[in-house]
Amino acid sequence: MTELNQRIEMPPEATPVVVFGAGSIVTDAHLPAYRDLGVPVAGIFDPDAQKAAKVADDWGARVFATVEEAVAQGRVIYDLAVPPAAIPAILEALPDGATAIIQKPLGSDLSEASAIIAILRRKNIHAAVNFQLRFAPMSLALKDAIARGQLGEVVDFDAWLALDTPWHLWAFLADLPRVEILLHSIHYLDFVRDIMGNPQGIHAKTVGHPSSTVSNTRTAMILDYGEAARCALSINHNHAFGRKFQACEFRICGTKGAAYMKLGVNLDYPKGEPDELWLNTDGEWRQVPLAGNWFIEAFHGRFAQVQRFAAGLDAEIEGSAEDAWHTMALVEAAYESSGKPMHPIKEAADA
Ligand SMILES: NC(=O)c1ccc[n+]([C@@H]2O[C@H](COP(=O)([O-])OP(=O)(O)OC[C@H]3O[C@@H](n4cnc5c(N)ncnc54)[C@H](O)[C@@H]3O)[C@@H](O)[C@H]2O)c1
Repeated sequence: MTELNQRIEMPPEATPVVVFGAGSIVTDAHLPAYRDLGVPVAGIFDPDAQKAAKVADDWGARVFATVEEAVAQGRVIYDLAVPPAAIPAILEALPDGATAIIQKPLGSDLSEASAIIAILRRKNIHAAVNFQLRFAPMSLALKDAIARGQLGEVVDFDAWLALDTPWHLWAFLADLPRVEILLHSIHYLDFVRDIMGNPQGIHAKTVGHPSSTVSNTRTAMILDYGEAARCALSINHNHAFGRKFQACEFRICGTKGAAYMKLGVNLDYPKGEPDELWLNTDGEWRQVPLAGNWFIEAFHGRFAQVQRFAAGLDAEIEGSAEDAWHTMALVEAAYESSGKPMHPIKEAADA
């Protein structure tokens, strides 16, 4: 089998980044990815000055005292790794025509996403959104296999998650009305869109669990791709019965072949297990050796693609904010669907 592509090549020269936010995703993934890619960090800004100083010190980066200082660094890429509510004000402060990477979600709901898009259009800011699952080595390999016609036409996408997710680790989501789809399954919805395009509609039901006060932790979704393709996601973050029957996997079937993906990071969290990609394109299942995992190699791909755009090697940003808006629209439709009754069932026979 021809080797499948699993990485995005960096341009010969990296554009420095200015990072907004010094939180856990920055220290766990962004700064390690920039280090791995050889991308210089021009500096970090966080209104929590102590935190910013500590992170900057740990990573040998400069700390900015103000937003004004952070946005006056010349030709850089701005990386916004901040809570959704902080995104619009930072975008307003960026120079017109800037290039930016925005952490997901693109706002807390669709109206916030639309407001962000309006700012980007007005200021001609070229922005990527950090839905990095599309750039995981297993995702790039799968997309390459599909592009080479090895699966034929994709006609089925099944996501099955049975996990014991420690939501208590993220204090900020304790009181949020939208948790599971907006903060977690949004990655899978974005990935489904990347593979299959925009669905025509969605049926969804998202609920909590008696063991916790988190608003929603279990979701079932059906995406409507018409008569030719089926897409279903079954997501249970409360499968607290040991590792044996826990799962985090996708089954993607085409008219000629099929793929199986295991997303290891969510299993045995936070230690994680390696991702897996298996392909069956000739009647036999074969495992594809992977060049890395969703965390953190997918961040390499995300950042490298924006670097290519900034260097003029790629004409477009893949997974742009304009594209991410459609993932936000899907999330919005999922919550709206979940708030409505499903198709009623007759309670008694007509006499
Ligand atoms: N793509 C992924 O897989 C992934 C994973 C985890 C988190 N995230 C997203 O990343 C974002 C940050 O998450 P986190 O876990 O690092 O949160 P965190 O709470 O650890 O850190 C957020 C930081 O942003 C800072 N901040 C707030 N307003 C700011 C502003 N105006 N300018 C600069 N900094 C500001 C806060 O002071 C804080 O230090 C969230 O939106 C989250 O959804 C994405």
